Amino acid sequence: MDRKTTPEVMQENDVIDLLVRQHTLIRDLFDEVARCEGDERREAFSRLVRLLAVHETAEEEIVHPYARRKLVGGDTIVDNRLQEEEEAKEMLSRLDDMDAASPEFMRELDRLRAAVFAHAAAEERYEFSELKAATSEGERRAMAVGVKAAEAIAPTHPHPGTESATKNLLIGTPVAMMDRARDVIRKAMGKHESGEGH
Ligand SMILES: [Fe+2]
Ligand SMILES: [Fe+2]
Repeated sequence: MDRKTTPEVMQENDVIDLLVRQHTLIRDLFDEVARCEGDERREAFSRLVRLLAVHETAEEEIVHPYARRKLVGGDTIVDNRLQEEEEAKEMLSRLDDMDAASPEFMRELDRLRAAVFAHAAAEERYEFSELKAATSEGERRAMAVGVKAAEAIAPTHPHPGTESATKNLLIGTPVAMMDRARDVIRKAMGKHESGEGH
């Protein structure tokens, strides 16, 4: 993939295409974190945390509930994916507390990378392919709205213009970022059930 032409906000209108494309970006960011050192590693890791936060939250808010309702055996498929996501989130929080220059950080990063790759492969194989067969183009386009809204607050490349604005939107711990992403997604999807009282 030519990284220079990767758009900041993805142009796809199909939720499955968007999520699969994010899986590729996540892989690229893991490579970037491992390749960089010092402050650059910390900065690349921040972008990885942001992308993972919006990606997994979008799946949990939009795609998994849909798969649970629509797919044969959907409960089992989704329960397995949620368990994998929980394990990844715990690793992510541990990493976030570590010194990025330490050998422990690199070991934990490798563990997280293996877990996230296996998780993404299981999603594509057991959930996304089935979901694509069970939904209409219109349904997948409607689901893409929330994923795009979340994506817009997590640029994957350093961007002088948007970086400061992004920092205001997604800051703090991975858990705080997921909470923020959840609010953005629910607003985009027209839901108001995040405890805001309306
Ligand atoms: Fe996931
Ligand atoms: Fe995923």
